[in-house]
Amino acid sequence: GRRAMTDALGRRISYLRISVTDRCDLRCRYCMAERMQFLPKNQVLTLEEIALLADLFIARGVRRIRLTGGEPLVRRDIVDLVRRIGRHLGGGLDEVTLTTNGTRLAQHAQALADAGVRRINVSLDSRDPDRFAHVTRGGDVRTVVDGLNAARDAGLSVKINMVALKGINEDEILPMLHWCNGEGFDLTLIETMPLGETGEDRTDHYLPLTQVADSIWRHHMLTPLSHRTGGPARYHAVEGMTARLGLITPLTNNFCADCNRMRMTCEGKIFMCLGHEDHVDLKTAFREGGLDAVEPLIDRALRLKPARHDFRIGADAPPAAVRRHMSVTGG
Ligand code: GTP
Ligand code: 5AD
Ligand code: SF4
Repeated sequence: GRRAMTDALGRRISYLRISVTDRCDLRCRYCMAERMQFLPKNQVLTLEEIALLADLFIARGVRRIRLTGGEPLVRRDIVDLVRRIGRHLGGGLDEVTLTTNGTRLAQHAQALADAGVRRINVSLDSRDPDRFAHVTRGGDVRTVVDGLNAARDAGLSVKINMVALKGINEDEILPMLHWCNGEGFDLTLIETMPLGETGEDRTDHYLPLTQVADSIWRHHMLTPLSHRTGGPARYHAVEGMTARLGLITPLTNNFCADCNRMRMTCEGKIFMCLGHEDHVDLKTAFREGGLDAVEPLIDRALRLKPARHDFRIGADAPPAAVRRHMSVTGG
């Protein structure tokens, strides 16, 4: 077998996030600018190239693969890629999954389940139609609700992702938790991270989850769980509910010390941290020299992995710590 991947701090890299496209059918305010310049298609890896690189990463010890974007389900034939990666399930791979905005889930949920997907993360920042349209700059929340119903019908476990936004959805957090509980979903709250210019000041809407957890506590006791899903979320049992509450706290409670993740962009760049610009480019080497030319670059990438991100939000923080948008690196 090939060598497992370990960084300079001894962190074992076993979780690969692949952004399969930088495009999206929504324009969430904290994620994208109103007008985005997307990559020309010839700069984007083909699905076959992604599949071959995924094979290599699995051979090097990756056990979980999460497809992200942009919106992964806007990429044509994406289910073929999931099926192709899914062939490793039960072998080297424990899980293949997606993070999606849900708008096209109604079409794809059953095919994803058939391809080996067991659970998905679906972004939903508001259930109110007007607010959802505001946050996403024009989205229709019904498409997401239809997608969620299809996911449930297909037997997929669902985790809802909600970016906590002061003045936008703060008052919906507790209702969202109740709704998720009723629907059989888990809920993960996320602190907004300064990635890419969005045309808005994230400081205005930043909501520390320490504060949110305190306010939930007034209604429901929260008990920390040892349950983990591979990513940074720390889960809590909620008194009186079966839904688990996950908290992703890049700003208030750093989780980088046990980071197990690396990321590949749709252009074939490897980022070892969401919060840094350092990367290696696999695409040219791969197109010219195949997988053998890629391996030394992976070893170089491992040496680039920083101890932690340095995200900051607030008056003295830079406008965006990282210039590229979340949709490029896939979160
Ligand atoms: P699972 O644990 O596999 O369910 O994934 P997840 O919750 O980590 O992934 P998801 O794609 O649903 O992302 C939820 C949020 O976590 C997004 O805002 C991601 O950007 C964020 N996230 C995931 N991994 C990292 C990380 O390594 N660093 C930081 N700062 N944020 C991350
Ligand atoms: N900060 C935090 N979360 C973000 N997401 C997108 N952009 C940001 C950001 N700047 C979330 C989406 C989705 C997940 C992949 O990341 O809402 O749920
Ligand atoms: Fe699209 Fe996701 Fe970004 Fe929203 S957060 S614009 S759904 S990529």
